[in-house]
Amino acid sequence: MKAAVLIRTGAPEQAFELQNLPDPIINQPTQVRIDVTAFGLNFADVVARLGQYQDCPPLPAVIGYEVVGIVESVGSAVKDISVGQRVVAFTRFGGYASQVVTDMAAVVPINDMDTGIAAALCTQYTTAYFAAEYITQLHAGEHVLVQSAAGGVGTALVQLAKRRGCIVYGTAGSDAKCEHLKTLGVDIPINYSQQHFADAIKKIAPDGKIDVIFDAVGGDAVRKGIGVLAAGGRMVCYGAASMSDRSRNPFKTVGKALAFGIYHPAQFMMSSRSLLGVNMLRIADQRPQVLRHCLQEVIRLAKEGVLRPVVDGIYPIADLAEAHNRLENRKTIGKVVIKW
Ligand SMILES: NC(=O)c1ccc[n+]([C@@H]2O[C@H](COP(=O)([O-])OP(=O)(O)OC[C@H]3O[C@@H](n4cnc5c(N)ncnc54)[C@H](OP(=O)(O)O)[C@@H]3O)[C@@H](O)[C@H]2O)c1
Repeated sequence: MKAAVLIRTGAPEQAFELQNLPDPIINQPTQVRIDVTAFGLNFADVVARLGQYQDCPPLPAVIGYEVVGIVESVGSAVKDISVGQRVVAFTRFGGYASQVVTDMAAVVPINDMDTGIAAALCTQYTTAYFAAEYITQLHAGEHVLVQSAAGGVGTALVQLAKRRGCIVYGTAGSDAKCEHLKTLGVDIPINYSQQHFADAIKKIAPDGKIDVIFDAVGGDAVRKGIGVLAAGGRMVCYGAASMSDRSRNPFKTVGKALAFGIYHPAQFMMSSRSLLGVNMLRIADQRPQVLRHCLQEVIRLAKEGVLRPVVDGIYPIADLAEAHNRLENRKTIGKVVIKW
C-alpha cells in the first residue's frame, strides 16, 4: 500500500513522505480491510505534525482518523459488512494510507454518499454529536456559543444547536468566515479579531450570560467563557487550538496552560455550572459502541437533510502539504479531504 508517512515534525513539506509499505493484515476476526479512496484531515493531525499531540504514535507514523473506501476483505466474525460495500470508517491513526484495517464497530456503509460529506461526518460530526447530544442536552431557546464555528466540528455544532431551537453565537477569525456563519444559521456571528466574545455576550445575551459554550480554543477562552456562563450553564471543552504553534518555548506553553484557569469543584457546585471534557480517542478505546452510535446518527441525520456538512475542498495526495498548511493557517471552512 501507499502511505503518507509522518517522518518528522515541523512544516508539512518536509514532515510527510510518500512511501510504499506492506499491506495491513487482518489479525482479528472482527476486522475489516478497506481500499481507501479518500481520507479526512483533522486539526489534531496538525497538532501531531507539530509534535504536540501526546496520543500520536512515535515517528515515523501514519496518522489519520478516518477514511472513505471499499471493503476489500473481512474477518471471520464480521457481521453486516460485506466485501465490495462502500463505507466510511474510523481509524485509530493509520488513515493516511491507500489501505487500512479497522474493527467492524468503526465501519458504517454509506452507499452513494458524497465522499467529502462522508469524511466530514466521521470524526468532526461524531465529535460534535457526542458533545451536543450525548453528554449535553440542549434546550430550545438556550443561548449557545460555538467557538471556531466555521471549522469542521464547529459547523456541526452550529447545525446541532439550531436543530434544538437554540440561539447560536459563533466565533470566527475573519469577516469572510462570519458571512459564512450567517449562511450556516448562526444568529450572532462574532469576529473575534474585532470584538472579544465575552464582551459580545455581556452586551447581547440575557443578563449578559450564556447557557452553553463549546470550546476547542482553550487557554483564556475557557477562563473567560466560564466567567460569562449562566447558572445551569455548561462549558464543553474539546480542544486547545490556541496551544498549538511552532514555538518550542516551554515558558510560553506553561503560560498558555495556566491561562485556562485553576478551579475547585465547589465553585461549579455553588454556582450550578458544569465543566465537561471530550476526548473521542478515549471514547473509541473504552466505549466503541457509543462512537459507532454517534456516527450512525449523524449519517442518518445527514441523509434526512437535517445535517449538511460543508466541504472546504478535496485535494489530490500530491497537495497534502498545501492542505495541511491551509488547515494550520485557519484558511479552511469546513472539511478538508485528500483523495488517492
Ligand atoms: N476532543 C476531541 O475528541 C476532538 C475531536 C475532534 C476535534 N477536536 C478539536 O476540535 C478543534 C476543531 O477541529 P477541526 O478538525 O474541526 O478543525 P477546524 O475547526 O476545521 O480548524 C481549526 C479552526 O480553529 C480555529 N482556531 C482557533 N485558534 C486557532 C489557533 N491558535 N490555530 C489554528 N486555528 C485556530 C481556526 O478558525 P478561526 O479562523 O475561525 O479562528 C481554524 O480554522 C481542534 O482544536 C481539534 O483538536 C477535538
